[in-house]
Amino acid sequence: MRDVAIIGAGLCKFGERWNSGLKELMAEAGIMALEDAHISSHDVEMLYGGTMASGRFSGQEHVAALMADQLGFKNIPAVRIENACASGGSALRQGYISVASGIHDIVVVGGVEKMTDVTSSEATTALGGAGDQEWELFQGITFPGLYALMARRHMHDYGTTEEMLAAVAVKNHENATKNRFAQFRKSITIDEVLRSKKVADPLKLLDCSPISDGAAAVVLAPLDIAKKYNDTPIKVMASTQATDTLRLAERDSLTEVKATRIAAQKAYEHAKVSAKDIDVVEVHDCFTIAEIMAMEDLGFYPKGKAGKAVLEGETALNSKISVNTSGGLKGCGHPVGATGVKQAVEVVWQLRGDAKERQVDGAEVGMTHNVGGSGSTAVVHIYKRAD
Ligand code: COA
Repeated sequence: MRDVAIIGAGLCKFGERWNSGLKELMAEAGIMALEDAHISSHDVEMLYGGTMASGRFSGQEHVAALMADQLGFKNIPAVRIENACASGGSALRQGYISVASGIHDIVVVGGVEKMTDVTSSEATTALGGAGDQEWELFQGITFPGLYALMARRHMHDYGTTEEMLAAVAVKNHENATKNRFAQFRKSITIDEVLRSKKVADPLKLLDCSPISDGAAAVVLAPLDIAKKYNDTPIKVMASTQATDTLRLAERDSLTEVKATRIAAQKAYEHAKVSAKDIDVVEVHDCFTIAEIMAMEDLGFYPKGKAGKAVLEGETALNSKISVNTSGGLKGCGHPVGATGVKQAVEVVWQLRGDAKERQVDGAEVGMTHNVGGSGSTAVVHIYKRAD
C-alpha cells in the first residue's frame, strides 16, 4: 500500500444557492481544487462523486459522469458513492483506496447536494431514506425524531442538559462567522437556541443542521510525488469505516454510535496516534446531540462528559480541542453528499495554516468524522501535514 496525500482542496459557498444548479456548484468546488493542486483536467485518472439523493432533490442521477463531464475529465472512469450523509466521507475513502492500491495516481473526490429546490417536507422525506423505511420512517419518525430519542436518553443517563446541547450550536455558529463559505454567518446565544421553535423534543430549530446546497472537492496523489504538485501536501494517515444496524431500536445503546467508536479505534491504530494527539477535528453535528456523542465515541471525553465540556468552552476555537472550526454541519451547512468532503477541505486548510481568522494555532494532526443515517455508517480520517 502506498501513502496518500491530499494535494488540492476546493469548496463552493454553502447555503440557499437559488441561481446555481448541481453543475455550477460542482464546477466551483472542482475548479478550485484543481487550481490548488496545480493540475489540469487532463491529469485526472479517476473520479469518485459522493451524493445522497440527487435524484429526489434535483431529479438528476448519474452524478459522477456529470461531474467528470462538467470538470472536463475526458473519458475517465467515474463512480457515484451513496452512503446517506456519509456519502462524501465514503467517496474520500474510495479515492484513498484507489491511490493507496497503486491503481491510480491522480484521483478527484467530489461531493455535492442541492437540497433547497424542494420543500422542507419533501427534504425530510428524502433524508428519511437514510433510515429503515419499513420499520422507522413508515411508522412516522423523522431524522430529527431519531436524534431526539438519543438526546433524551443521553439526558436521562448522564444529566446532559438542553443548555449543553445549545452550547454546541452557539460554538459552531460562532466558528461559522469566520468562514466565508458558511451558510450562517451569524452568532447566536444559548437563550436564542432554547427559545427557537421545537422540532422534535428536546431538539429545537437551532439544534438542527439546515437544508443546504453545496459542493466540495479534493485531489489525491501518492505521497512520494505529491510535492511535485503542491508545497504543502497533507498526508492521509488513516481512512476507516464501520457500520451498525440501520434501525436505532436494535442498537446496543441509544447513547453511543458504535460505528463511530469502531472506526475511530481502527483509525487511531492505523495512524499510530491517540485522541490526545488530535489538534483539530470536524465531527458530524447534524444535530447538537450528535456532536456531544461524537466527542465521546471518538475518545475525546468519557461517556456523559462531553456536554459539560462544550458548555465550559473546552471545544471552542483554540481551546483544549478545536471542534468544527468550519462551523460544522450546524453553522456551515449540511448539503449531505458534500459534507464529508467539506470536512476534509477544512482540515487541509487548518493543517496548512491557511484557515485565516479561524486558524488553530500549531495544528499538526487533524481528524474528520462523517456519519450516515442515525449512526449506521461512520467514516473516520486522520491527517497530518507531510514533512
Ligand atoms: N438552523 C438555523 N436556522 C435555520 C435552520 C437551521 N437548521 N433551518 C432553517 N433556518 C432558518 C431559515 O434560514 C429561515 O430563516 P429566515 O426566516 O430568516 O429566512 C427560518 O429558519 C425558517 O426556515 P424554514 O426553511 O421555514 O424552516 P423549516 O421549519 O422548514 O426547517 C428544519 C427547519 C430544522 C426542520 C430543517 O432545517 C431540517 O429539517 N433540518 C434537519 C436536516 C436533516 O435532517 N439533515 C440530515 C441529518 S441526519
